[in-house]
Amino acid sequence: MRLQVKEVSFAYGSIPALENVTFKVRGGEVLGIVGPNGSGKSTLLKCLARVLRPQMGTIFLDGKNLASLHGREIGRCLGYVPPPGTGNPFPCTVLEAVLHGRRPHLSWGVSQRDLAVVSSALTLLGLTDLAERQLEELSSGQRQKVLIARALAQEPEVFLLDEPTATLDIRYQLEVLGFIKEFAVNKERVVVMVLHDLNLASRFADRLILLYEGRIFAAGSPKAVLSPENIRATYGVEAVVSETQWGLQVIPVAPVDVGAEEEPQLYRVGMLG
Ligand SMILES: Nc1ncnc2c1ncn2[C@@H]1O[C@H](COP(=O)(O)OP(=O)(O)OP(=O)(O)O)[C@@H](O)[C@H]1O
Ligand SMILES: [Mg+2]
Repeated sequence: MRLQVKEVSFAYGSIPALENVTFKVRGGEVLGIVGPNGSGKSTLLKCLARVLRPQMGTIFLDGKNLASLHGREIGRCLGYVPPPGTGNPFPCTVLEAVLHGRRPHLSWGVSQRDLAVVSSALTLLGLTDLAERQLEELSSGQRQKVLIARALAQEPEVFLLDEPTATLDIRYQLEVLGFIKEFAVNKERVVVMVLHDLNLASRFADRLILLYEGRIFAAGSPKAVLSPENIRATYGVEAVVSETQWGLQVIPVAPVDVGAEEEPQLYRVGMLG
């Protein structure tokens, strides 16, 4: 599987959200999308998930135009996990929600394999004990785990995740991202995920795209993309970046005025007290 994005632009009415975005991801690779609020990350993921149709440019899946795929084909190809807090939960149980992920694969009913896939997704996300609970009764982190489990059960060729770990505790952040990475590598699937946590992004993504005002500001290895200069220019934050055996450690130190001639104005703790 290979995902190719070619000169994609998208605007909400007169508000441009993506401009001329081009990149490729191959099966087995995890691509991380980072960038400040409003930089176009979710819009990009929605274009890839075909929730939105770009006004310009084309997205190819294994050379096939995404716009030409239909119904079930989309369900088998694309698994999309929206950002936490999107939409109201359906009135259904955890088990029903995850089983729903198998829909694109079902033919004459639920097979043993469907149940095995659902059961392993529930186990992986620690949801087995909650299987009979109603979605609306869950905490936001638990609900996010259900959405991830549902997309995993779908076994998509391309896995699209918008801030999948934002509501997860540190253990599940590691477990979920570790599993997603394994899924990409072992099954040669494409993973594109939006992450705000730059440390996790550098650790679990093979490559990063840094979006800024709807454009690709930088793309490449985490180390090349998450330089203090790039972080400063896009987030307006002075950061200290160091290499560790578990990826980069990015410490945001203080907001700075980008473009100001003088030295960055660091906030000092004493000034805030
Ligand atoms: N439904 C919408 N209608 C109009 N404008 C929108 C809509 N959704 C997003 N936008 C605008 O498009 C731009 C990109 O938004 P997007 O949600 O893609 O950003 P993001 O990078 O995901 O931000 P965040 O980190 O806050 O999730 C922003 O300027 C935003 O205000
Ligand atoms: Mg977003």
